[in-house]
Amino acid sequence: MNYAKITGWGKCIPPAKLSNDDLSTVVDTNDEWIKTRTGISERRISHVSTAELATVAAQQALDCAGINGDEIDLVLLATCSPSTLVANTASLVQKNLNATGAAACDVNAACSGFLYALQNATAQINAGMIKKAVIIGAERMTWYVNWSKRDSAVLFGDGAGAVVIEASEEKSGLLASKTGCDTSNRDILHITNFGTDINKYDQPVGPSDLLFEGREVFKRAVKGMAEACDDVLEQANLALDDINVLIPHQANLRIIQAIQQKLSVSDDKVMVNIQNYGNTSAATIPIAICEAVEQGLIQSNSKIMSAAFGAGLTWAASYIQWSDRITPIKISNATLPDCDKTGLELINQAVLACKN
Ligand code: COA
Repeated sequence: MNYAKITGWGKCIPPAKLSNDDLSTVVDTNDEWIKTRTGISERRISHVSTAELATVAAQQALDCAGINGDEIDLVLLATCSPSTLVANTASLVQKNLNATGAAACDVNAACSGFLYALQNATAQINAGMIKKAVIIGAERMTWYVNWSKRDSAVLFGDGAGAVVIEASEEKSGLLASKTGCDTSNRDILHITNFGTDINKYDQPVGPSDLLFEGREVFKRAVKGMAEACDDVLEQANLALDDINVLIPHQANLRIIQAIQQKLSVSDDKVMVNIQNYGNTSAATIPIAICEAVEQGLIQSNSKIMSAAFGAGLTWAASYIQWSDRITPIKISNATLPDCDKTGLELINQAVLACKN
């Protein structure tokens, strides 16, 4: 059996911040409401494309693993905010990484995308089809935001994270996984004015918007993620007490707390960084993995449970066994170009467009 050991991890956090107070200058909201109802204090606004965010995160993960792009067999990019649809965004990341021998593919399962991609790439390694892959979650979700709608404008942010996996005889990496999609009510979370469903010959296409029925998504998210975790524990023949770290999707702090309560997991085992980034969709889990390592929550041989849900409604849960190493082989200097604007300045034109 070839296991798919995680040997590298990296993230890309764009520098421009948009605080709750900043947001309250563009839409009717306030810091107190956002913090108490969502747990979010600020989010990042990217000054670069999704491909650039993805490239930096992936290069950091490659450096962390101590390997070069030309050793990689597969670049899998989870995103629902691609830089370009054709050619796919992963192909540009492959080129940027000098991973020219690698297959390159985008995966869209919305916020569950990274765990879907990790499952796919791991299966290819398990089957002996490939040896090394980089899996990235990268999003520029604020590109879709309608800045005149307070319910959605407060929730999303931009960023990227990545891991490198390599074939290994050591029993580590993704060891059990369950993915699914509850399509009974797929319209309760979607992006408007995007895609070939639009009859562009008859109707003008307006700006896109993130629409959701918040309470309905909330309920299904808690139920779906908790059930998926139970399934995965059974597959792995583990009990919840065996798990050292829970890394849930970061969509709302109250959703995280509800899952934590359902699974009876103590606070000290749960990774939470929603306060800093909001919901970065497919980038959420790999960013949280990196920060869990940085903060010492993930330690040598930690047993990790991760769960996500997103539009579709897709859902996924994964049991990951970390390896010995929790420090990078090489400290990466991959970074974004400087940004000379604040978050508010970056969204300024989009805010004006939404008001018209
Ligand atoms: N600032 C201030 N007030 C706001 C607000 C904001 N940004 N957004 C909504 N409100 C108001 C509403 O207008 C409503 O006012 P009313 O009682 O006078 O009508 C009140 O707050 C409660 O709104 P409600 O929608 O019931 O709040 P909630 O507690 O359910 O929280 C969400 C709303 C969106 C934060 C929460 O339901 C959620 O996180 N859902 C999942 C979101 C999602 O789909 N994320 C993507 C999935 S990956």
